[in-house]
Amino acid sequence: MTDPRPTSAFDPANADPAVTGRLVGVLDQLAASPGVRRLRAWAHERLAVAAGERTLDVGSGTGSETQVLAAAVGPGGTAIGLEPHPGLRAVAGQRAAEAGSRARFLDGDALALPLPDADLDAVRCERVLQHLTDPALAVTEMARVLRPGGRAVLLDTDWATFLIHPASPAVRSALATVVQDAAATPDAGRSLAGWLADAGLTVDGVASEVLLHDPRSVTWPLVRGIGVEAVARGLLTEAQCDDLYGELTAAAERGTFHLSVTMFAAAAHRPR
Ligand SMILES: C[S@@+](CC[C@H](N)C(=O)[O-])C[C@H]1O[C@@H](n2cnc3c(N)ncnc32)[C@H](O)[C@@H]1O
Repeated sequence: MTDPRPTSAFDPANADPAVTGRLVGVLDQLAASPGVRRLRAWAHERLAVAAGERTLDVGSGTGSETQVLAAAVGPGGTAIGLEPHPGLRAVAGQRAAEAGSRARFLDGDALALPLPDADLDAVRCERVLQHLTDPALAVTEMARVLRPGGRAVLLDTDWATFLIHPASPAVRSALATVVQDAAATPDAGRSLAGWLADAGLTVDGVASEVLLHDPRSVTWPLVRGIGVEAVARGLLTEAQCDDLYGELTAAAERGTFHLSVTMFAAAAHRPR
């Protein structure tokens, strides 16, 4: 039988410390982005977690947002981060211990949550559904473990919104293909509210933030990673890639480089 967990960069089988270190670096960088901070603040406000509640952060990564849940529920409540990647789970546990947080981290799969029905007051899930081949099943699981009246927030990227400039239409289209193929479900962002509604929850609101990169510097690890993949797949030639890098560098020197992607969030509750 095939393992239902995704074989993305977050493949739990790959717990090589160097890989974990790279993942942590990317997650920390994103966590510092003003757009991510604003969308997370919106999500926490909508989740409105109260003291004593039982909460879950599905695919908790480094656990920063599980710690926010733990602070909100206080000593009488529960904040669980569900994280299948052993390296990330260890980092999350260590960071929580260092911060004196009561957040705790469990192994588990979004597609089969290890919790009974109607067990939780609130659940959040950020940038996980794009990595799943059956994200709707994961949202059904989140709805199952919520008590009547319990709340859910989902946050995810929509990779069709990836914009890079300057680049010719042909180069843009090759880069967009690579970016979209990298996610199991690249259109997760626009689908969040629909998945919540299909799982029987009442949608209470949606929000978005454009994650805008600094126009004065090319985001080289990301751009080169996409370029290398485009060449390997025969979508671009080496020469086209070199021209692209040159154009982007010149644009960054003038402060006119553009790289952005939009992240969406949706909030819902389980009807009583
Ligand atoms: C882009 S990271 C996001 C981490 C964190 N939510 C954040 O926003 O920083 C994706 C996370 O989803 C986790 N993940 C991937 N597949 C999963 C699954 N089937 N069940 C639960 N988590 C999963 C990964 O291990 C990783 O921590």
